[in-house]
Amino acid sequence: MSAMTAIDMTVLREKVPEQAPGPTPPPGPGPEFDWLLAAVQTNRFMPHPSPDSIFVGDGDYRAIGAEFLGHFVRIGRLQPHERVFDIGCGIGRMAVPLTQYLDPERGSYDGVDPVMEGILWCAQTITPAYPRFRFQRLDIAHPLYNPQGSLPGIEVRFGFANGSFDFITMTSVATHLPPDELVVYLEEATRLLAPGGRLFLTAFAIDEKTGQERLSFKRWQDGPGWYAIDEAPLAAAGIDTAFLLEKATQAGLAVESFRPGHWRGISSAHYQDVLLAVKPGAGR
Ligand SMILES: C[S@@+](CC[C@H](N)C(=O)[O-])C[C@H]1O[C@@H](n2cnc3c(N)ncnc32)[C@H](O)[C@@H]1O
Repeated sequence: MSAMTAIDMTVLREKVPEQAPGPTPPPGPGPEFDWLLAAVQTNRFMPHPSPDSIFVGDGDYRAIGAEFLGHFVRIGRLQPHERVFDIGCGIGRMAVPLTQYLDPERGSYDGVDPVMEGILWCAQTITPAYPRFRFQRLDIAHPLYNPQGSLPGIEVRFGFANGSFDFITMTSVATHLPPDELVVYLEEATRLLAPGGRLFLTAFAIDEKTGQERLSFKRWQDGPGWYAIDEAPLAAAGIDTAFLLEKATQAGLAVESFRPGHWRGISSAHYQDVLLAVKPGAGR
């Protein structure tokens, strides 16, 4: 790690409160919300893509969706009336549970992804019942998810006006992006958030506290990016914690919290690290 990076970490650490790792759940809404989370996980009438069409990773689709609805509300302070933008929405793992939380009249959800199958499933399954849930396929190039894509990630500008959203999520997406694309997405998130809006982003963030982690990362060409799988570097991409926090700040966001995940071999409520960053200003 360079001297510059070490200094940045010291400065940033003073500013950024970390969640003490441990079993205590973060404070949040009460028993009705716990009931909702249990219901979205167990309700067999909730739509579920066929198992062979799920391309967003292993694990229980419903359980992970319910888990993240919990994090969005408890960590990200998501409210039912808010406008959500899901960057890299995959095949609806976050959208399906959000249908049960967002207010169908006042809340809204927009999801974008380069994988056509995921967008089609969502548009055909979710939008007819929840018209304020909209899905858009963007032809963004990615070596694993969309190798023939025509739009380089560093040129992405999402087609929404400034300040269109109250809550932006990138769940398990930064873990597939190279650093220069991640920076563009942080800038886009800042542009698209209304004052008081939050970016909820998960990452494998690498710093001196990592070391007993469940994935073994190697640095990519002296830059801030890391990779775990030689044959497919963007299958699991890490990023220097200092770089992530610094770029979020430079983009114009205030980092509210950085919560280490249990991929590090520690106790945590989530696998990947979670960054919550806020666009300064008063909310709606
Ligand atoms: C591990 S999946 C996570 C999907 C979803 N966020 C979830 O948690 O269910 C990663 C997603 O990122 C999408 N993706 C890959 N490159 C992207 C890019 N440059 N911009 C937006 N999404 C991208 C993939 O198509 C895939 O759906």
